[in-house]
Amino acid sequence: MKLIFATNNDKKVAEIRAVTGNKFDILTLKEAGIDIDIPEPHDTLEKNATEKSLTIYKMTHTNCFSEDTGLEVESLNGEPGVKSARYAGDDRSFDKNIDKLLNKLAGSDNRRARFRTVISLIIDGKEDLFEGIAEGKIIDIRKGTNGFGYDPVFVPNGSNKTFAEMDMEEKNRYSHRKKATEKLIAFLKILN
Ligand code: IMP
Repeated sequence: MKLIFATNNDKKVAEIRAVTGNKFDILTLKEAGIDIDIPEPHDTLEKNATEKSLTIYKMTHTNCFSEDTGLEVESLNGEPGVKSARYAGDDRSFDKNIDKLLNKLAGSDNRRARFRTVISLIIDGKEDLFEGIAEGKIIDIRKGTNGFGYDPVFVPNGSNKTFAEMDMEEKNRYSHRKKATEKLIAFLKILN
């Protein structure tokens, strides 16, 4: 089955391909010849994921999926959440976002946080949503250089390493994105 993955983030593509293996033929936007930055204007991950997949489906009439992910920090009432990419402003700098997060959490004892991914899949015009959650905590210094986004300060429950200290295979043992992708795979197996 051919599926377009509505993202321009190569790291997300690599993480999801590591889970799907050769079960599906996943095309990135670039590989599908589509050059757009799809807006994420909504106040929930679900609505943004839907916006991205619907935009691509309307353009291509090809089965597709998108995902939207947020880091939800308990003591910040779920912030940065849906604003994770632009937490410190419009330039989408991973470094500035982490600086802002660590400043806000300075002195806080409650470091509990989770990543939440929502995948929107569109098959023949019909949408289904799949959620994946990774529970963990935010540490107060950066560790590791792998991955992207908030990976250097997030330690998933069950490990003492940050996501950025793990290779992709190890991150995928805990990852929000992997859990959502497994639900998508199970759903597509039912369909076939
Ligand atoms: P997006 O809107 O789904 O692309 O993601 C929002 C932001 O969340 C990204 O810019 C990253 O900063 C962060 N993010 C998403 N997924 C991950 C992840 O797996 N690890 C660390 N940060 C992530």
